[in-house]
Amino acid sequence: MFDKNIINKFKKIKTPFYYYDLKVLEDTLTELKKQSDKYSYTVHYAIKANANERILTLISSYGFGADCVSGNEITKSIRTGFDKNKIVFAGVGKSDDEIMCGLKNDIFCFNVESIQELEVINALAASVNKTARVALRINPNVDAKTHQFITTGLEENKFGINGWEFEDVIKKLKELKHIETIGLHFHIGSQITDLNVFKGLCIRANEIQSWFNDHGLEFEHINVGGGLGVNYKEPDENLIPDFNSFFSVFNKFLELRGNQTLHFELGRTLVAQCGSLISKVLFVKEGVNTSFAILDAGMTELLRPALYQSYHKIENLTSEGDVQNYDVVGPICESSDTFGKSVKLPETKRGDLIAIRSTGAYGEVMSFGYNLRDKAAVYYSDEFS
Ligand code: LLP
Repeated sequence: MFDKNIINKFKKIKTPFYYYDLKVLEDTLTELKKQSDKYSYTVHYAIKANANERILTLISSYGFGADCVSGNEITKSIRTGFDKNKIVFAGVGKSDDEIMCGLKNDIFCFNVESIQELEVINALAASVNKTARVALRINPNVDAKTHQFITTGLEENKFGINGWEFEDVIKKLKELKHIETIGLHFHIGSQITDLNVFKGLCIRANEIQSWFNDHGLEFEHINVGGGLGVNYKEPDENLIPDFNSFFSVFNKFLELRGNQTLHFELGRTLVAQCGSLISKVLFVKEGVNTSFAILDAGMTELLRPALYQSYHKIENLTSEGDVQNYDVVGPICESSDTFGKSVKLPETKRGDLIAIRSTGAYGEVMSFGYNLRDKAAVYYSDEFS
């Protein structure tokens, strides 16, 4: 991904920084547009994956909608060019102010996660004489077979309306005059690499939709969330995700009614592979059975390995020495501040440049200021050409 020319330019910049390859992002968006148009599917980009202004502006220019989880995400998505009529607003704990933000902006839809939330949205909509469009977020009790912290579709998770509440939801909806129910919504987890999991979701969604239809509720829209995984092990082999195989599962197994529209909320797959965290080796230190390569980037810049023990490919951009094993760690005063154990790298010394790959999703956006760290700078490929 990095040629000599760009590495030479990196050498002159203060590290750590995020680097976004806009060509990779554009190629990904072009492919996504092509495949979603083929099936007439609507894609809402999950802003939470990366809310960087330039990235949002580029994504919105392709005409995708936005999937927001806070009032600030709604405001920023509108400011960066997303169409209000294509904004969905999810989240298990929307504050009154955030709900008002959605109502004032006449967003496309609230994905509602409980009966109490339906009542609150109804009351707030009534107070401004509006009707809120909602989709019922259902907890389908489907195992996403991913890391437990990013599994959302099991009964034990806090998300969505569970099967035993369906009858009460129907009763409640009849009372609520400022709610228009337009859809069913599902999202079972993230970084899902086994497409059979999505087949399982389709089968459950078919049953659930039929149950509601049998009880007198019809939907114009079905939203199956996001969750498609990316190849963290070998990013260069799979820079552009296989959207076609993903969509074809839904095309084959999800039973849409008449002119129902199918919506997706993809985050990670749009942005993961375009981003890298570039860092410098501060020190190399001998441990008991290993050597530590201590970087100037830490969990404050990239939290994923510490939080989910997630794998990111680590490359030394400036050494061609013999390969050795290193524990690649950050400078933060926490033992979980580790990017990888026994990572095979060419002989690594102070001053070498390290790239941590596939960090465009849930990287920059999850960075934080512990140890009073500076926020990492951000560079884009078009600044280097
Ligand atoms: N829709 C809903 C309702 C969600 O909760 C999420 C992600 C998405 C869509 C987008 O999912 P994606 O296509 O990106 O998998 N910080 C974690 C991931 C958390 C995902 C939260 N929800 C990580 O770094 O792996």
